[in-house]
Amino acid sequence: MSLPSYQKAAVIEGTELVIKKNAFIPSFEKNEVLVKVIAASVNPTDWKHIDYGSGKTQGSVSGCDYAGIIVSMGEEVEAKGDLNLGDHVYGVVHGSSLERRNNGAFAEFVAASPLVLIKAAKPLKTIAKGQENIPSGPVETFEGASTLGVALTTIAITFSYYFKFDFSKKPLEDDFLLIWGGSSSVGQIALQFAKIYGIKVIVVASAKNHHHLKSLGADHLVDYHDADAVEQIKALGKNHIKFGFDTISLPQTNQKVHSAVSENATTNSLLPFNPKDLEDYRSDVDITVTLAYLAWGKNTKVPFPWMETDENGAAVSNPGFPEACKTFFKVASKALNEGSVKHIPITVLPKGLNSLNEAFDLLRHDKISSGKLTVRIEDSA
Ligand SMILES: NC(=O)c1ccc[n+]([C@@H]2O[C@H](COP(=O)([O-])OP(=O)(O)OC[C@H]3O[C@@H](n4cnc5c(N)ncnc54)[C@H](OP(=O)(O)O)[C@@H]3O)[C@@H](O)[C@H]2O)c1
Repeated sequence: MSLPSYQKAAVIEGTELVIKKNAFIPSFEKNEVLVKVIAASVNPTDWKHIDYGSGKTQGSVSGCDYAGIIVSMGEEVEAKGDLNLGDHVYGVVHGSSLERRNNGAFAEFVAASPLVLIKAAKPLKTIAKGQENIPSGPVETFEGASTLGVALTTIAITFSYYFKFDFSKKPLEDDFLLIWGGSSSVGQIALQFAKIYGIKVIVVASAKNHHHLKSLGADHLVDYHDADAVEQIKALGKNHIKFGFDTISLPQTNQKVHSAVSENATTNSLLPFNPKDLEDYRSDVDITVTLAYLAWGKNTKVPFPWMETDENGAAVSNPGFPEACKTFFKVASKALNEGSVKHIPITVLPKGLNSLNEAFDLLRHDKISSGKLTVRIEDSA
Protein backbone atom coordinates (compact mmCIF):
# COMPACT_ATOMS: atom_id res chain seq x y z
CA MET A 1 0.00 0.00 0.00
CA SER A 2 1.42 3.41 -0.89
CA LEU A 3 1.02 5.75 2.03
CA PRO A 4 -0.42 9.25 1.75
CA SER A 5 1.49 12.18 3.35
CA TYR A 6 -1.53 13.58 5.12
CA GLN A 7 -4.39 12.09 7.04
CA LYS A 8 -7.74 12.89 8.58
CA ALA A 9 -7.37 13.29 12.35
CA ALA A 10 -9.30 14.66 15.36
CA VAL A 11 -7.11 17.40 16.83
CA ILE A 12 -7.60 19.26 20.13
CA GLU A 13 -8.49 22.88 19.45
CA GLY A 14 -9.85 25.00 22.28
CA THR A 15 -12.25 22.89 24.30
CA GLU A 16 -13.14 20.41 21.58
CA LEU A 17 -11.88 18.23 18.77
CA VAL A 18 -11.68 19.58 15.24
CA ILE A 19 -11.35 17.22 12.28
CA LYS A 20 -8.32 18.13 10.17
CA LYS A 21 -7.96 16.65 6.69
CA ASN A 22 -4.29 17.63 6.36
CA ALA A 23 -2.75 16.31 9.60
CA PHE A 24 0.67 14.67 9.24
CA ILE A 25 0.87 10.87 9.27
CA PRO A 26 2.84 9.94 12.41
CA SER A 27 6.42 8.86 11.87
CA PHE A 28 7.27 5.53 13.48
CA GLU A 29 10.36 4.21 15.25
CA LYS A 30 12.32 1.09 14.30
CA ASN A 31 10.57 -0.79 17.12
CA GLU A 32 7.05 0.30 16.07
CA VAL A 33 4.48 -0.47 13.39
CA LEU A 34 2.27 1.87 11.42
CA VAL A 35 -1.37 0.83 11.65
CA LYS A 36 -4.24 1.94 9.43
CA VAL A 37 -6.96 2.56 12.00
CA ILE A 38 -10.33 0.96 11.28
CA ALA A 39 -12.05 1.64 14.63
CA ALA A 40 -11.20 3.60 17.77
CA SER A 41 -12.89 3.82 21.18
CA VAL A 42 -13.36 6.65 23.64
CA ASN A 43 -11.84 6.75 27.14
CA PRO A 44 -12.31 9.23 30.01
CA THR A 45 -8.64 10.22 29.59
CA ASP A 46 -9.46 11.68 26.14
CA TRP A 47 -11.81 14.37 27.42
CA LYS A 48 -9.74 14.86 30.59
CA HIS A 49 -6.73 15.82 28.43
CA ILE A 50 -8.86 18.71 27.13
CA ASP A 51 -10.58 19.77 30.36
CA TYR A 52 -7.62 19.32 32.73
CA GLY A 53 -4.82 19.82 30.21
CA SER A 54 -4.31 23.54 31.04
CA GLY A 55 -4.13 24.23 27.31
CA LYS A 56 -0.97 22.13 26.94
CA THR A 57 -2.58 19.52 24.69
CA GLN A 58 -3.66 22.04 22.02
CA GLY A 59 -2.85 20.71 18.55
CA SER A 60 -2.43 17.09 19.67
CA VAL A 61 -4.32 14.25 17.98
CA SER A 62 -6.69 12.71 20.53
CA GLY A 63 -7.46 9.05 21.20
CA CYS A 64 -5.69 6.04 22.74
CA ASP A 65 -7.65 2.86 21.88
CA TYR A 66 -7.34 1.64 18.28
CA ALA A 67 -7.83 -1.44 16.11
CA GLY A 68 -6.58 -1.71 12.55
CA ILE A 69 -4.25 -3.23 9.98
CA ILE A 70 -0.44 -3.07 9.91
CA VAL A 71 0.66 -1.15 6.79
CA SER A 72 4.33 -0.57 7.55
CA MET A 73 6.91 -1.78 10.06
CA GLY A 74 10.09 -0.54 11.70
CA GLU A 75 13.23 -2.54 10.93
CA GLU A 76 13.47 -4.09 14.42
CA VAL A 77 9.89 -5.35 14.24
CA GLU A 78 10.49 -6.73 10.76
CA ALA A 79 13.66 -8.53 11.89
CA LYS A 80 11.84 -10.14 14.84
CA GLY A 81 9.25 -11.68 12.51
CA ASP A 82 6.36 -11.80 15.02
CA LEU A 83 4.24 -9.35 13.02
CA ASN A 84 3.52 -9.01 9.31
CA LEU A 85 2.10 -6.43 6.96
CA GLY A 86 -1.66 -6.95 6.79
CA ASP A 87 -1.97 -8.30 10.35
CA HIS A 88 -5.09 -7.22 12.21
CA VAL A 89 -4.01 -5.73 15.55
CA TYR A 90 -5.32 -3.68 18.47
CA GLY A 91 -3.78 -1.84 21.35
CA VAL A 92 -2.99 1.54 22.84
CA VAL A 93 -1.12 4.70 21.88
CA HIS A 94 -0.53 7.79 24.02
CA GLY A 95 -3.16 10.06 22.46
CA SER A 96 -3.33 13.81 23.28
CA SER A 97 0.41 13.57 23.89
CA LEU A 98 2.58 16.58 24.68
CA GLU A 99 5.58 14.85 23.15
CA ARG A 100 4.23 13.20 20.01
CA ARG A 101 1.39 15.38 18.89
CA ASN A 102 0.70 13.59 15.56
CA ASN A 103 0.02 10.21 17.14
CA GLY A 104 -3.52 9.58 18.36
CA ALA A 105 -6.10 6.86 17.72
CA PHE A 106 -8.76 9.26 16.39
CA ALA A 107 -7.00 9.37 13.04
CA GLU A 108 -6.42 7.29 9.93
CA PHE A 109 -2.99 6.05 11.10
CA VAL A 110 -1.18 5.40 14.38
CA ALA A 111 2.43 4.51 15.16
CA ALA A 112 2.06 1.66 17.64
CA SER A 113 4.35 -0.32 19.90
CA PRO A 114 4.19 -4.16 19.73
CA LEU A 115 4.72 -4.16 23.52
CA VAL A 116 1.08 -3.24 24.11
CA LEU A 117 -0.55 -4.72 21.04
CA ILE A 118 -2.53 -7.90 20.39
CA LYS A 119 -2.41 -9.64 17.02
CA ALA A 120 -5.79 -11.14 16.19
CA ALA A 121 -5.39 -14.85 15.40
CA LYS A 122 -8.28 -14.70 12.91
CA PRO A 123 -9.05 -11.73 10.62
CA LEU A 124 -11.31 -9.15 12.28
CA LYS A 125 -14.57 -8.14 10.61
CA THR A 126 -16.43 -4.85 10.77
CA ILE A 127 -19.88 -4.69 12.33
CA ALA A 128 -22.67 -4.27 9.77
CA LYS A 129 -23.80 -0.66 9.28
CA GLY A 130 -26.95 0.18 11.18
CA GLN A 131 -26.12 -2.24 13.99
CA GLU A 132 -25.33 0.23 16.74
CA ASN A 133 -25.45 -1.63 20.02
CA ILE A 134 -23.31 -4.73 20.34
CA PRO A 135 -23.36 -6.85 23.49
CA SER A 136 -20.25 -8.12 25.25
CA GLY A 137 -18.68 -10.93 23.21
CA PRO A 138 -15.51 -12.53 21.86
CA VAL A 139 -13.21 -10.19 19.94
CA GLU A 140 -14.15 -10.84 16.30
CA THR A 141 -14.58 -7.28 15.01
CA PHE A 142 -12.39 -4.17 14.75
CA GLU A 143 -14.99 -2.29 16.80
CA GLY A 144 -14.82 -4.81 19.67
CA ALA A 145 -11.04 -4.98 19.47
CA SER A 146 -10.73 -1.20 19.66
CA THR A 147 -12.17 -1.14 23.19
CA LEU A 148 -9.29 -2.98 24.84
CA GLY A 149 -5.88 -1.31 24.62
CA VAL A 150 -6.10 1.13 27.55
CA ALA A 151 -7.76 -1.44 29.82
CA LEU A 152 -5.21 -4.18 29.03
CA THR A 153 -2.23 -1.88 29.56
CA THR A 154 -3.61 -0.56 32.84
CA ILE A 155 -4.37 -4.06 34.11
CA ALA A 156 -0.92 -5.27 33.01
CA ILE A 157 0.75 -2.75 35.33
CA THR A 158 -1.74 -3.21 38.19
CA PHE A 159 -1.94 -7.02 38.15
CA SER A 160 1.52 -8.05 36.95
CA TYR A 161 3.64 -5.26 38.50
CA TYR A 162 1.85 -4.01 41.63
CA PHE A 163 -0.24 -7.06 42.65
CA LYS A 164 2.45 -9.53 41.40
CA PHE A 165 -0.20 -11.90 40.02
CA ASP A 166 1.71 -14.78 38.44
CA PHE A 167 -0.63 -16.34 35.88
CA SER A 168 1.46 -19.53 35.77
CA LYS A 169 0.61 -20.27 39.42
CA LYS A 170 -2.60 -20.53 41.43
CA PRO A 171 -3.40 -17.74 43.93
CA LEU A 172 -3.78 -18.53 47.63
CA GLU A 173 -7.13 -20.23 48.09
CA ASP A 174 -8.52 -17.82 50.70
CA ASP A 175 -7.44 -14.58 49.01
CA PHE A 176 -9.91 -12.10 47.57
CA LEU A 177 -9.53 -9.28 45.08
CA LEU A 178 -11.93 -6.35 45.46
CA ILE A 179 -12.75 -4.55 42.20
CA TRP A 180 -14.49 -1.25 42.92
CA GLY A 181 -16.15 -0.16 39.67
CA GLY A 182 -16.70 -3.58 38.09
CA SER A 183 -18.91 -2.24 35.30
CA SER A 184 -16.29 0.27 34.10
CA SER A 185 -14.20 -0.52 31.02
CA VAL A 186 -11.18 -1.36 33.11
CA GLY A 187 -13.29 -3.18 35.73
CA GLN A 188 -14.99 -5.60 33.34
CA ILE A 189 -11.73 -6.64 31.71
CA ALA A 190 -9.93 -6.83 35.08
CA LEU A 191 -12.66 -9.12 36.42
CA GLN A 192 -12.24 -11.57 33.53
CA PHE A 193 -8.45 -11.72 33.92
CA ALA A 194 -8.79 -12.10 37.69
CA LYS A 195 -10.92 -15.19 37.07
CA ILE A 196 -8.34 -16.57 34.61
CA TYR A 197 -5.76 -16.09 37.38
CA GLY A 198 -8.18 -17.92 39.68
CA ILE A 199 -8.61 -15.45 42.54
CA LYS A 200 -12.02 -14.91 44.17
CA VAL A 201 -13.44 -11.52 43.27
CA ILE A 202 -15.81 -9.17 45.10
CA VAL A 203 -17.17 -6.71 42.56
CA VAL A 204 -18.77 -3.34 43.33
CA ALA A 205 -21.16 -1.87 40.74
CA SER A 206 -24.77 -0.65 40.37
CA ALA A 207 -27.31 -3.43 40.91
CA LYS A 208 -28.54 -3.05 37.30
CA ASN A 209 -25.14 -4.38 36.11
CA HIS A 210 -24.87 -7.31 38.55
CA HIS A 211 -26.37 -9.92 36.22
CA HIS A 212 -23.84 -9.11 33.47
CA LEU A 213 -20.92 -9.05 35.93
CA LYS A 214 -22.00 -12.40 37.38
CA SER A 215 -21.84 -13.80 33.83
CA LEU A 216 -18.23 -12.52 33.60
CA GLY A 217 -17.31 -14.46 36.75
CA ALA A 218 -17.92 -12.18 39.77
CA ASP A 219 -18.03 -14.31 42.95
CA HIS A 220 -19.80 -11.66 45.03
CA LEU A 221 -21.53 -8.44 44.05
CA VAL A 222 -22.18 -5.32 46.10
CA ASP A 223 -24.07 -2.18 45.05
CA TYR A 224 -22.07 0.96 45.78
CA HIS A 225 -25.30 2.87 46.39
CA ASP A 226 -25.85 0.84 49.60
CA ALA A 227 -24.87 2.89 52.65
CA ASP A 228 -23.28 -0.20 54.21
CA ALA A 229 -21.36 -1.30 51.08
CA VAL A 230 -18.00 -1.32 52.91
CA GLU A 231 -19.42 -3.46 55.75
CA GLN A 232 -20.93 -5.89 53.22
CA ILE A 233 -17.54 -6.23 51.49
CA LYS A 234 -15.69 -6.81 54.76
CA ALA A 235 -18.17 -9.52 55.77
CA LEU A 236 -17.78 -11.28 52.40
CA GLY A 237 -13.97 -11.06 52.45
CA LYS A 238 -13.53 -12.56 55.95
CA ASN A 239 -10.30 -10.61 56.49
CA HIS A 240 -8.75 -12.03 53.31
CA ILE A 241 -9.18 -9.11 50.90
CA LYS A 242 -5.51 -8.91 49.96
CA PHE A 243 -5.96 -6.73 46.87
CA GLY A 244 -8.19 -3.72 46.22
CA PHE A 245 -8.43 -2.30 42.67
CA ASP A 246 -10.17 1.07 42.51
CA THR A 247 -11.03 1.43 38.83
CA ILE A 248 -13.08 4.57 39.50
CA SER A 249 -10.58 6.47 41.63
CA LEU A 250 -12.71 9.31 42.95
CA PRO A 251 -11.92 10.62 46.47
CA GLN A 252 -14.88 8.66 47.89
CA THR A 253 -13.88 5.41 46.16
CA ASN A 254 -10.22 5.77 47.28
CA GLN A 255 -11.58 6.09 50.81
CA LYS A 256 -13.93 3.12 50.57
CA VAL A 257 -11.40 0.75 49.01
CA HIS A 258 -8.86 1.72 51.69
CA SER A 259 -11.43 1.04 54.43
CA ALA A 260 -12.71 -2.24 52.92
CA VAL A 261 -9.47 -4.15 52.33
CA SER A 262 -7.98 -6.48 54.94
CA GLU A 263 -4.71 -6.21 56.89
CA ASN A 264 -1.52 -5.82 54.85
CA ALA A 265 -3.45 -5.50 51.57
CA THR A 266 -2.19 -3.78 48.42
CA THR A 267 -4.52 -1.28 46.79
CA ASN A 268 -4.27 0.29 43.37
CA SER A 269 -5.86 3.49 42.14
CA LEU A 270 -5.88 4.96 38.63
CA LEU A 271 -5.54 8.58 39.71
CA PRO A 272 -3.07 9.92 42.27
CA PHE A 273 -4.35 11.02 45.69
CA ASN A 274 -2.84 12.07 48.98
CA PRO A 275 -3.07 9.27 51.58
CA LYS A 276 -3.27 12.04 54.19
CA ASP A 277 -6.78 12.79 52.87
CA LEU A 278 -7.99 9.33 53.92
CA GLU A 279 -10.07 9.46 57.10
CA ASP A 280 -8.78 6.15 58.47
CA TYR A 281 -5.29 5.97 56.93
CA ARG A 282 -3.67 2.60 57.73
CA SER A 283 0.06 2.21 57.26
CA ASP A 284 -0.28 -1.58 56.77
CA VAL A 285 -1.99 -1.00 53.39
CA ASP A 286 0.38 -0.59 50.45
CA ILE A 287 -1.17 2.16 48.30
CA THR A 288 -0.10 2.04 44.63
CA VAL A 289 -1.16 4.06 41.58
CA THR A 290 -1.05 3.07 37.90
CA LEU A 291 -0.58 5.35 34.91
CA ALA A 292 -0.91 3.39 31.66
CA TYR A 293 1.15 6.01 29.76
CA LEU A 294 4.24 4.79 31.64
CA ALA A 295 3.95 1.28 30.16
CA TRP A 296 6.74 1.89 27.66
CA GLY A 297 9.32 2.38 30.43
CA LYS A 298 10.04 5.99 29.44
CA ASN A 299 9.41 9.06 31.58
CA THR A 300 6.44 10.79 29.99
CA LYS A 301 4.99 14.28 30.20
CA VAL A 302 1.33 14.44 31.20
CA PRO A 303 -0.65 17.67 31.45
CA PHE A 304 -1.74 17.11 35.05
CA PRO A 305 0.21 16.69 38.32
CA TRP A 306 1.80 13.29 38.81
CA MET A 307 3.30 11.78 41.97
CA GLU A 308 6.92 11.56 40.93
CA THR A 309 8.39 13.69 38.14
CA ASP A 310 11.92 14.07 36.77
CA GLU A 311 13.88 17.31 36.22
CA ASN A 312 11.89 17.93 32.99
CA GLY A 313 8.56 17.56 34.74
CA ALA A 314 7.87 14.15 33.15
CA ALA A 315 6.07 11.41 35.11
CA VAL A 316 8.64 8.80 36.14
CA SER A 317 8.40 5.30 34.66
CA ASN A 318 10.02 2.10 35.80
CA PRO A 319 11.67 -0.78 33.86
CA GLY A 320 9.24 -3.11 35.66
CA PHE A 321 6.29 -1.67 33.69
CA PRO A 322 7.33 -2.87 30.19
CA GLU A 323 8.31 -6.20 31.73
CA ALA A 324 4.83 -6.47 33.28
CA CYS A 325 3.27 -5.63 29.90
CA LYS A 326 5.35 -8.29 28.12
CA THR A 327 4.21 -10.95 30.58
CA PHE A 328 0.59 -9.86 30.76
CA PHE A 329 0.07 -9.32 27.03
CA LYS A 330 1.13 -12.95 26.38
CA VAL A 331 -1.63 -14.12 28.73
CA ALA A 332 -4.03 -11.58 27.22
CA SER A 333 -3.28 -12.56 23.64
CA LYS A 334 -4.09 -16.23 24.37
CA ALA A 335 -7.27 -15.41 26.32
CA LEU A 336 -8.60 -12.93 23.76
CA ASN A 337 -7.79 -15.09 20.75
CA GLU A 338 -9.45 -18.10 22.41
CA GLY A 339 -12.50 -15.98 23.26
CA SER A 340 -12.22 -16.61 27.01
CA VAL A 341 -12.05 -12.84 27.62
CA LYS A 342 -14.80 -10.81 25.99
CA HIS A 343 -14.95 -7.14 25.01
CA ILE A 344 -17.44 -5.00 26.90
CA PRO A 345 -20.79 -3.84 25.35
CA ILE A 346 -20.29 -1.30 22.56
CA THR A 347 -22.24 1.52 20.99
CA VAL A 348 -20.97 2.41 17.51
CA LEU A 349 -21.53 6.13 16.91
CA PRO A 350 -22.93 7.09 13.48
CA LYS A 351 -20.61 9.86 12.25
CA GLY A 352 -17.16 8.47 12.92
CA LEU A 353 -14.68 11.11 14.10
CA ASN A 354 -17.45 13.71 13.86
CA SER A 355 -19.28 11.98 16.73
CA LEU A 356 -16.40 12.37 19.19
CA ASN A 357 -17.30 15.73 20.77
CA GLU A 358 -20.77 14.34 21.52
CA ALA A 359 -19.19 11.16 22.92
CA PHE A 360 -16.90 13.20 25.20
CA ASP A 361 -19.95 15.02 26.59
CA LEU A 362 -21.70 11.72 27.36
CA LEU A 363 -18.64 10.56 29.33
CA ARG A 364 -18.16 13.94 31.02
CA HIS A 365 -21.71 13.69 32.38
CA ASP A 366 -21.52 10.00 33.45
CA LYS A 367 -24.14 8.99 30.88
CA ILE A 368 -22.47 5.70 29.95
CA SER A 369 -23.01 2.69 32.16
CA SER A 370 -21.19 -0.57 31.43
CA GLY A 371 -20.23 0.23 27.87
CA LYS A 372 -17.83 1.72 25.40
CA LEU A 373 -18.39 4.33 22.69
CA THR A 374 -16.70 3.44 19.42
CA VAL A 375 -16.18 5.13 16.06
CA ARG A 376 -15.22 3.79 12.64
CA ILE A 377 -12.82 6.04 10.76
CA GLU A 378 -14.57 5.39 7.41
CA ASP A 379 -17.82 6.83 8.83
CA SER A 380 -16.18 10.28 9.18
CA ALA A 381 -17.47 12.34 6.26
N1 LIG B 1 -4.30 5.85 35.31
C1 LIG B 1 -4.59 5.13 34.24
O1 LIG B 1 -3.71 4.60 33.57
C2 LIG B 1 -6.02 4.95 33.83
C3 LIG B 1 -6.36 4.00 32.87
C4 LIG B 1 -7.70 3.80 32.56
C5 LIG B 1 -8.67 4.55 33.20
N2 LIG B 1 -8.28 5.50 34.10
C6 LIG B 1 -9.30 6.27 34.85
O2 LIG B 1 -10.10 5.31 35.51
C7 LIG B 1 -11.45 5.74 35.57
C8 LIG B 1 -12.33 4.68 34.93
O3 LIG B 1 -12.06 4.55 33.55
P1 LIG B 1 -12.95 3.59 32.65
O4 LIG B 1 -12.69 3.90 31.23
O5 LIG B 1 -12.80 2.19 33.10
O6 LIG B 1 -14.36 4.14 33.09
P2 LIG B 1 -15.82 4.05 32.45
O7 LIG B 1 -15.98 2.76 31.72
O8 LIG B 1 -16.13 5.30 31.73
O9 LIG B 1 -16.66 4.02 33.82
C9 LIG B 1 -18.05 4.05 33.77
C10 LIG B 1 -18.57 3.19 34.89
O10 LIG B 1 -18.19 3.78 36.15
C11 LIG B 1 -19.07 3.26 37.12
N3 LIG B 1 -19.06 4.10 38.33
C12 LIG B 1 -19.24 5.44 38.39
N4 LIG B 1 -19.15 5.85 39.69
C13 LIG B 1 -18.92 4.75 40.44
C14 LIG B 1 -18.73 4.52 41.84
N5 LIG B 1 -18.78 5.53 42.71
N6 LIG B 1 -18.49 3.26 42.25
C15 LIG B 1 -18.46 2.23 41.38
N7 LIG B 1 -18.63 2.37 40.05
C16 LIG B 1 -18.87 3.62 39.59
C17 LIG B 1 -20.41 3.24 36.44
O11 LIG B 1 -21.00 2.11 36.99
P3 LIG B 1 -22.55 1.78 37.17
O12 LIG B 1 -23.16 2.06 35.82
O13 LIG B 1 -22.54 0.34 37.55
O14 LIG B 1 -23.09 2.69 38.21
C18 LIG B 1 -20.07 3.07 34.93
O15 LIG B 1 -20.41 1.78 34.42
C19 LIG B 1 -11.48 7.10 34.87
O16 LIG B 1 -11.31 8.10 35.86
C20 LIG B 1 -10.25 7.06 33.98
O17 LIG B 1 -9.76 8.34 33.66
C21 LIG B 1 -6.99 5.72 34.43
